[in-house]
Amino acid sequence: MPEYIPVFDVQDLPEEGLKALEVNGRAILIGRVNHQLVAFLDRCPHAAKPLKIGKLRGTELKCAWHGWTFDVLTGKSVPDHPAFRLTQYPVKIEGSKVLIIPPEPPQTSSL
Ligand code: FES
Repeated sequence: MPEYIPVFDVQDLPEEGLKALEVNGRAILIGRVNHQLVAFLDRCPHAAKPLKIGKLRGTELKCAWHGWTFDVLTGKSVPDHPAFRLTQYPVKIEGSKVLIIPPEPPQTSSL
């Protein structure tokens, strides 16, 4: 069963907004949005482009590439399409650390 791992100090968590980092070889966005912690893969469900350069307005993140929008609290696209949702990870604060259940490392080819 996967366990939480520390990813950075809580003092480095923005009061509002997202922070990009790499965990287990995966690009992740972690932050505080509308006073809630969020963590999700920095990969747009539309065409796999990075979301970190998108525009965050309220709880909605608009992808910079083709304008698709996602609610970072629910992970749903706006309007919702079940096939296009953010890949979210459990995140919490414990003591002075921000912790997440880390993503699986990328698959490597055995050829
Ligand atoms: S890659 Fe994000 S909207 Fe197309």
